[in-house]
Amino acid sequence: MKKNLPLVAFSLLLLANAYAQSFVGAGKIVDPFHYTIVKEGNFKNGSVASAHPLASLCGAEIMKQGGNAFDAAITTQLVLAVVYPGAGNIGGGGFLVGRKTNGQTIAIDYREEAPGKASRDMYLDKEGKAQTNLSQSGHLASGVPGTIAGLFATAAYGKLPFKTLIQPAIDIAEHGFVITEKEANSLNATRESFIKNSTQTSAFIKEGKWKAGDTLVQKDLAETLKRIRDNGQKGFYEGQTAQLIVEEMKRGNGIIGLEDLKSYKAKTRTALQFKYKGYEIIGMPPPSSGGIIVWQMMKMIEHRPIASYGYGSAKAVQLMVETERRAYADRAEHHGDPDYYKVPLKTLVSDAYIQNRMKDYDSTKASTSKDVVAGIIKEHDETTHLSVMDKEGNMVAVTTTLNGGYGCRTVVGGAGFLLNNEMDDFSVKPGVPNMYGAVGGEANAIQPGKRMLSSMTPTLVIKNNQPFIVCGTPGGTTIPTTVYQMLVDMLEFNMSAAEAVNAPRFHHQWLPDEVRFEKDFNNTTKKQLSAMGYKVVDGTYWGRAEAIKIVNKEKQVAADKRGDDSVAGY
Ligand code: DON
Repeated sequence: MKKNLPLVAFSLLLLANAYAQSFVGAGKIVDPFHYTIVKEGNFKNGSVASAHPLASLCGAEIMKQGGNAFDAAITTQLVLAVVYPGAGNIGGGGFLVGRKTNGQTIAIDYREEAPGKASRDMYLDKEGKAQTNLSQSGHLASGVPGTIAGLFATAAYGKLPFKTLIQPAIDIAEHGFVITEKEANSLNATRESFIKNSTQTSAFIKEGKWKAGDTLVQKDLAETLKRIRDNGQKGFYEGQTAQLIVEEMKRGNGIIGLEDLKSYKAKTRTALQFKYKGYEIIGMPPPSSGGIIVWQMMKMIEHRPIASYGYGSAKAVQLMVETERRAYADRAEHHGDPDYYKVPLKTLVSDAYIQNRMKDYDSTKASTSKDVVAGIIKEHDETTHLSVMDKEGNMVAVTTTLNGGYGCRTVVGGAGFLLNNEMDDFSVKPGVPNMYGAVGGEANAIQPGKRMLSSMTPTLVIKNNQPFIVCGTPGGTTIPTTVYQMLVDMLEFNMSAAEAVNAPRFHHQWLPDEVRFEKDFNNTTKKQLSAMGYKVVDGTYWGRAEAIKIVNKEKQVAADKRGDDSVAGY
């Protein structure tokens, strides 16, 4: 034992030194008090696009310091948990789709789980009516968080120690960062909801109103992150943090218990992989519906000359809307957590099935979604996506979420982080739409330990066996259609990453039977669709996409114009 002492002392010195040399701080490489939003860039080496400049900058810096894309994805997510509390999280969950330079594909499922005390009808009142207020806000809305387990599962593919990867997030939580106008407005708008759904005050509540340029310091969160740094995954799922979560649950009539936390595990799944013309597309399998939906829709258009129809034309949009309708009808019936429900994956993506699905497609008129159930798509709820590629060609796409903006609005007292409201992604009652208007049934019914169905669609594209595209977006049920449109825009209409990320979007999800268009979509196409029998609805904006596309051996990196999203690289 004595023999090893100098070695231990030396390691501790190295460790202390690593912290002291943190690249985050006033006047340092990443300065949380002075930063700018950068929408596009071309980089030769490591590249990140995420929902916040500080997160992208820290991710890129980790790669500069010898980390790979997996390391950068971990740091970017942890920094997002600090600087973008609306969606970045340690109290939520997510999915990672990655590909190593040797061609190995990786899919990590760290989706939240229903707690052991959850039950099928837990959100129904005595008359059997769905109480969606309970599945959407407050303690009962939260599933068992998966993010920290997911980050440790990701670390198996990285190169740097976790302690190095988490330190930037600790520094920013501890010393603060300057908030943008969008963040200030968003915190102000959520103030009452934080007060209503939390049992203790938190860093998000301040005297008076938040304004751009204010500093947000999160001491409790910094301490939680330090416990994770020092104790690994157990720093979250056991010990003091777990205790704080369970105490918060007790104060607010929640049901997450110590055993739920201790037994949570990220799951490694087999990534979905299919060919589209000359490309390989890699996506997330269930419990995300996104990968299957994109697979079906891409296959439904593959043998039609969509490029010749022209981007945004009525002909192209009508075809895509009909593929969206069919894929979402399947989602409602057949998709769920594969560990609890047999998802007929092989059939859903088989050529014969897909051809059959499009048999009744008529290019001159709208088909109808029978048994319409009313439901609206909310547009200001938050999830977040990050796209990363390193200089060796490792690719990582991560979409992570609390579900709604700031999740269930419950801050874990003394631990400083928000819990998710992911339980609403289960089918609370057959046919009752969730907050995104999605309906479901048996496949997605609540069961203890089961993971709720998701739409998150982190996606990779390979061309000639080489990395080509990393992309994804938030947006609830609009996620798969946004990813689909970005893929079609880049693969068929030859758009750049920035053009695809910023192009106006449209969305059909089977029910409600309507096509929703973003504000800037061309009116001629909308009128033509209306004349064909479609219910055309004007929306505002949705999604905040991030894409990396390889052009001339460089990484074309683009962050969505719709938010504070920003790119970084070198
Ligand atoms: O997993 C899902 O499908 C949803 N919880 C995602 C929510 C979302 O994207 C909200 N963001 N805009």
